[in-house]
Amino acid sequence: MSQKATVRAPSNIALIKYWGARDLERAVPRNPSISMTLERCVSRSTVEVLPDATESEVLWRGVGGELVPAPPAFAERIRRHLDFLRRRFRVAGHFRVATENTFPPAAGIASSASGFAAVTLAVVAALGLELPVEELSELARLSGSGSAARSVLGGYVEWPAGPGRDQCHARQILPPEHWNLRDLVAVVDAGPKAVSSLDGHRRAPTSPHFRARQRQLPARLEEVRRALIERDFDRLATVVEAEAIDLHCIAMTSSPPIFYWQPGTLAVLEAVRALRAEGIPACSTIDAGANVHVLCPATEEAGVASRLEALPAVRSLIRDGVGRGPAVEAGHLI
Ligand code: DP6
Repeated sequence: MSQKATVRAPSNIALIKYWGARDLERAVPRNPSISMTLERCVSRSTVEVLPDATESEVLWRGVGGELVPAPPAFAERIRRHLDFLRRRFRVAGHFRVATENTFPPAAGIASSASGFAAVTLAVVAALGLELPVEELSELARLSGSGSAARSVLGGYVEWPAGPGRDQCHARQILPPEHWNLRDLVAVVDAGPKAVSSLDGHRRAPTSPHFRARQRQLPARLEEVRRALIERDFDRLATVVEAEAIDLHCIAMTSSPPIFYWQPGTLAVLEAVRALRAEGIPACSTIDAGANVHVLCPATEEAGVASRLEALPAVRSLIRDGVGRGPAVEAGHLI
C-alpha cells in the first residue's frame, strides 16, 4: 500500500514578532513570539513516499492551476527539509510532494510557515508516525522557517526563545473559541517580497533599534498575554501596532536597509487609525511584506471590511480569522 498523506496547515499572524535569531540555521529565535493561527489562509500538501527514488520531487500549483515542478529555489528549500526528515526518521527512499496555497505566497502572509508546517505534518502522516505536538513544532521549526513552529497549533500560540532546542517549540496559550478575532488582510501588493525574512533576521542586529526592542519585549509579551486572556482589544491594539512599527523600523535601519512598505501600506495604516479615532476597534500589523493585517473583533468585521475595500490602494481583501490548526485531509493533490 502506498504511503501517502495530505495535510492542511494554516498560516499565522504574529502579534509579537520573531525578528532576529540566536541560531539562524536552526531557526532558534532571539525572542519569544505570540501569534494567532489563521483559518482560511492555508497550505495543503500531499506527500508520498517513493521507496526506490533517488531524489525527491516537488510540485506546486502554478498560476495556470496545474501542478507543475516548483521553481528551483523553493524546491531546493523543501528538498533540504525533506532530507533532514529522511535522516531523522531513517527513510530509505525519497518523497513526491505537491503543495498549494489558498493565498498569494511570499507576500507577508507567512506562506513559508503554513507551507513548511503542511509538508512536515504530511511527511509524518505518510510515514504513519504519531508524534507529540511539541515534536511536530520542533520539526516544523527546523525547516528554517521558524514561524512554521507556530503553525502546527490552533488558536493563540506562544513560541519561546529557547535557550536550547528542547525548549524551543511552540505551545497553545488559548484555544480559538476563547476570542473570535478576525484578521482582514488588505493586499496592496500580491507579488513576492524583495528581501526574504531570512535576510531580515540576519540583518536585524545591525539596526541601532534592535536592542531597544529586545529590552521592551518582556513587558510587551506580558501585555499581549493579558490582553488575550481578558479579551481586551484596546490593550491588544496598542502593543500589536507598536510591535509591527518596531519590526519595520528595525528593517528600515538595518544594514543594508530593507523597505517592505509601499504607499498602499501607509494608506491602510492611516485608514485603520481613522477607524480607531471613530471608536471602531481595529488595529494593524504587518509581517515581512507590504500587506496589512487588520485585526478586529468578529462583531466589527463587516464594517471594517467595507471601509478597507473602499480604499483604492487595496487590491483585494482576504477575510480570515482565528483558526483551529492543521488537519489531515482525505483527498490528495496527487
Ligand atoms: C516577520 O523566518 O519564520 O513573519 O520563513 O518567511 O515564514 P518565513 O519567515 P520566518 O520569520 C517570520 C518573520 C515575521 C514575524 C513572525 O512571523 O513572527
